[in-house]
Amino acid sequence: MDTVQYSSLLLCVFLVAIARSDADALHHIMTLRSTALVSPHCHDHTTMICNIDSHQEPTVIYFAWINPEGTVLCELDTHGRVINHNSRVNCTYRDKQLVLTIHDVIPLNEGKYHCKLRSSLGVKSAVTDLKLKECHHRLHHHTQGSNVTCWARGVYPEAHIHWFQGPQNLTHLSVAHPSSQADDGTYEVVSTLLHHPTSAFKCSLWSPTSVRYLTSTEMHPGATHAETWASSKANFLGAVGTIATLLAAALTLL
Ligand SMILES: *[C@@H]1O[C@H](CO)[C@@H](O)[C@H](O)[C@H]1NC(C)=O
Ligand SMILES: *[C@@H]1O[C@H](CO)[C@@H](O)[C@H](O)[C@H]1NC(C)=O
Ligand SMILES: *[C@@H]1O[C@H](CO)[C@@H](O)[C@H](O)[C@H]1NC(C)=O
Repeated sequence: MDTVQYSSLLLCVFLVAIARSDADALHHIMTLRSTALVSPHCHDHTTMICNIDSHQEPTVIYFAWINPEGTVLCELDTHGRVINHNSRVNCTYRDKQLVLTIHDVIPLNEGKYHCKLRSSLGVKSAVTDLKLKECHHRLHHHTQGSNVTCWARGVYPEAHIHWFQGPQNLTHLSVAHPSSQADDGTYEVVSTLLHHPTSAFKCSLWSPTSVRYLTSTEMHPGATHAETWASSKANFLGAVGTIATLLAAALTLL
């Protein structure tokens, strides 16, 4: 064997050795993957999947989902059974997947969720970000003297109320009340329009986060009178009808 042949043989042996150790390592490699981002609507449920990726079946020593505050929400016990620590969540384990379901998601649930695994193939963790889509309930209004107040509950992220009469922006004639935060992390936003107009106008909920109006409610100051008149006319006709019936009944008795 000359030197060239000898060194090529050596190179071959070396490459085969590398390939074998790679295959060996691959056999023991384990990764943990989880959903990167979930963005449910307010009060919806959401599911985060944490998946063990490995050729070998690992022996799981510890597998858990942990909330942004660092509280363990659920974990696998040594018998492979799931223990749920929180009534608002539900975890299941199947096919090397620990699946976390949060019922009724609220703003307080936002943040980074950690999935942690200790196993015979090593220690790994993965992260899922929970970002809520905006939430709001409908706008309500009431009139007090010449003031009209509009408000909405369950708003998140914080939003503002603007006022319009046709294309005209009346917001500068209004007073925004300091918004208050409920236990679930949503806001109540309130605004009072001083000296409301005598023809149709509306209040709208503006979200600076999504840069759009989320909802509106229209008010017709004239219409309330028409409605009252219509309903009193109906009452009057109803009364006439009743009297006629009574008269007819009296006549039959005669
Ligand atoms: C949790 O999810 C499983 C599977 O979907 C279901 O059978 C079980 O009833 C759920 N438990 C709760 C407390 O919701
Ligand atoms: C109208 O609203 C303003 C600002 O909130 C308040 O100072 C005023 O007392 C209100 N007037 C009536 C009649 O409620
Ligand atoms: C209406 O006025 C408010 C306050 O001045 C302003 O922030 C808002 O952008 C205006 N909206 C429109 C549609 O003009």
